[in-house]
Amino acid sequence: MNVLVIDVGGTHVKLMASSAEQPRKFASGDGFTPQQLVAGILATAAGWQYDVASLGIPSPVLRGAVMAEPWNLGRGWVGFDFAAALGVPVRIINDAAMQALGSYEGGRMLFLGLGSGLGTTLVDDGRVVALELAHLPFHDSTFEDICGQRGLLALGEDDWRAAVLDAAERLRAAVAAEYVMLGGGNVRLFGELPPQLRRGHNDRAFEGGFRLWADEPPVPAGWSPVLAHATLWREPSDVPSLVSLFDAPDRAAAFTLRLGDLVIDYSKNLVTTETMTRLAELVRATGVERLRDRMFAGDAINSTEGRAVLHTALRNRSPRAVRVDGRDVMPDVLAALDHLRRFSTDVRAGTWTGYTGARIADVVNIGIGGSDLGPAMATAALAPYAAEGPRLHFVSNVDGAHIAQTLQGLDPRTTLFVVASKTFTTQETMTNAQTARAWFLEHAKDEAHIARHFAAVSTSEAEVRRFGIAPENMFVFWDWVGGRYSLWSSIGLPVALAVGYERFAEMLDGAFEMDEHFRTAPIAENIPMVLGMLGVWYASALEFDTHAVLPYEQLLHRFPAYLQQLDMESNGKRVDRQGAPVAVATGPIVWGEPGTNGQHAFYQLLHQGTRVVPCDFLVGLESPYPLGDHHRLLLANCFAQTEALMRGKTEDEVRTELTAQGLTGDALEPLVPHKVFPGSRPSTTIVYRKLDARTLGMLLAMYEHKVFTMGAIWGVNSFDQWGVELGKQLAKRIDADLVADAPASAHDGSTNQLINLAREGRLPR
Ligand code: F6P
Repeated sequence: MNVLVIDVGGTHVKLMASSAEQPRKFASGDGFTPQQLVAGILATAAGWQYDVASLGIPSPVLRGAVMAEPWNLGRGWVGFDFAAALGVPVRIINDAAMQALGSYEGGRMLFLGLGSGLGTTLVDDGRVVALELAHLPFHDSTFEDICGQRGLLALGEDDWRAAVLDAAERLRAAVAAEYVMLGGGNVRLFGELPPQLRRGHNDRAFEGGFRLWADEPPVPAGWSPVLAHATLWREPSDVPSLVSLFDAPDRAAAFTLRLGDLVIDYSKNLVTTETMTRLAELVRATGVERLRDRMFAGDAINSTEGRAVLHTALRNRSPRAVRVDGRDVMPDVLAALDHLRRFSTDVRAGTWTGYTGARIADVVNIGIGGSDLGPAMATAALAPYAAEGPRLHFVSNVDGAHIAQTLQGLDPRTTLFVVASKTFTTQETMTNAQTARAWFLEHAKDEAHIARHFAAVSTSEAEVRRFGIAPENMFVFWDWVGGRYSLWSSIGLPVALAVGYERFAEMLDGAFEMDEHFRTAPIAENIPMVLGMLGVWYASALEFDTHAVLPYEQLLHRFPAYLQQLDMESNGKRVDRQGAPVAVATGPIVWGEPGTNGQHAFYQLLHQGTRVVPCDFLVGLESPYPLGDHHRLLLANCFAQTEALMRGKTEDEVRTELTAQGLTGDALEPLVPHKVFPGSRPSTTIVYRKLDARTLGMLLAMYEHKVFTMGAIWGVNSFDQWGVELGKQLAKRIDADLVADAPASAHDGSTNQLINLAREGRLPR
């Protein structure tokens, strides 16, 4: 991170930057204003690179703010917004404190700045504590009058040195410092110093400015303008209310994007045009477009696994070739889709039957993570289009209750199992698949019947064979499809079985339309990019930790769970693609529930809690189930919540309301704070015509590319998931300990205890 240090003095302003070789300076003086300072800095530091700045000011500074006008300069310093004026984050410190920090050699140090006055600062364990000891009485005068320039002139050098040594020892004892660092211009008048005194140097002020940022993780390239702008939104008093932003009459239209049947209204977000401009710059500076083009081109952008990332090829509805290692993968993609089409059509038509010749009535998908969440969510979302298709069931949890309950009431003669696993080694899936196999054989007896009742979706033919599923019942995909991006591949088989291949293909069409938009639209009109920009704005710049996704339609009840994997497995990363720590907060915690259910559960916190939770509201204008007043009420609730979060309710409004209810005085006032809503809580509303397959495809691809955009801005690899591995490794070890001869002793106390409780099979009485 490049730091610009600004040391403001009574006659000159001195500048230094980490990227510069020599300091520079320009004149200050009586009447010097912060506006003149900023103009001088911009002119004098021209050509220097800096991401942040340290500003040393000859005034008391408290928590980074100037508390009084400097006695030797002009006015206007208190409350001046240096970060906004300089366009980078600025840390302000008292000038003597900056010099003290630069001279600091550890422990508890008292710094005395021997200049025209007397600067005093304590640095304890690296923490700077500004002091104002100079005006305390000393002999018949004050410390400053004796140790400062006036004392030197009045006493002469010898007596002045003796007085300073006396003063230094008294002040050291008073603040219990381990040593005193003498700084300031007049320190040159000392020869050898007694043991508890050390000699500082004037130019250590620059070092202090650099040290102010030393503990900070570096600001990644391109972030400074966004972080500087964010400081404007942090102080509650400076932040414009969301409602007031609508004083710009065209805000709603200006902050709305459309594509096909999708309308994305992001006008109720904590952003201005300036914010969006800076975020668009960040997208450019971090190379999002370049990485996007490399993804579509089949480059191995999943660097830690050496793989291309080509879920977009699975829904490529154009005649364009997509090459991996020089080979066009589209013929394989189309062949796999055709396999899916033929099989799903036959099963739905009843021409593919079970071993007794009976039609398949139930399909059980056994998979977990990306091999479960996508198909389960999409099957539920498109349920109105299932017509005469088989009933779909999804088993994922290794808890036996999941498969046991699912199998209850199913008939093995009419049940088809789809074992879905990219690797075909996932413990939960393999355990559930073995249980399903045993259940089936218990009834069917003959292993030859497995071929009519078990299909596999995987990238590993060897593992599928080992399990005993015939290769002709295997649906393929490839290692360049990530698990959480695999719905568009053969992993989507349950969707095609549930609603028909045509609907599945419409979903691919919708996703393709979004892909084309993402590939070609300019940043400011690019829906996934704009959503990604808002995402990093909240997660990294304003540091809101969570993001709520609130689909209002019940059919999307698995959508938040699906999005959790997509977002958190992709961007829950703390190092960048080069392995260096990411300097800003990355992937937010994504959570949510269908809308009106959430209203009666956690919306209290959204409206009146201490945390700000940016929300996505999703709703269709038409219902697939037009029924009485239901859908109108659903829409009213959805829109009302976005308005309520934004508007809030003021104290005055609460008082008026309570007065109208007949309350006064002591009955009214105590209620007021409880009924106030702060408002200005951000949300994006995503409206579509109707939840059909094409729209669903668009929505899912939109979120995929939003997650891509955020990951690309942060520079993380959004396509690996090493964070899930440790638990898997330890579970294997613990599983062995659970059946070992001796009680567990190789783990920590807690884990040993838990394992041994489980070995005993019951809680001790
Ligand atoms: O949980 C980790 C993970 O690897 C996910 O990324 C993946 O979707 C899931 O496990 C299932 O993996 P597979 O499809 O190989 O069984």
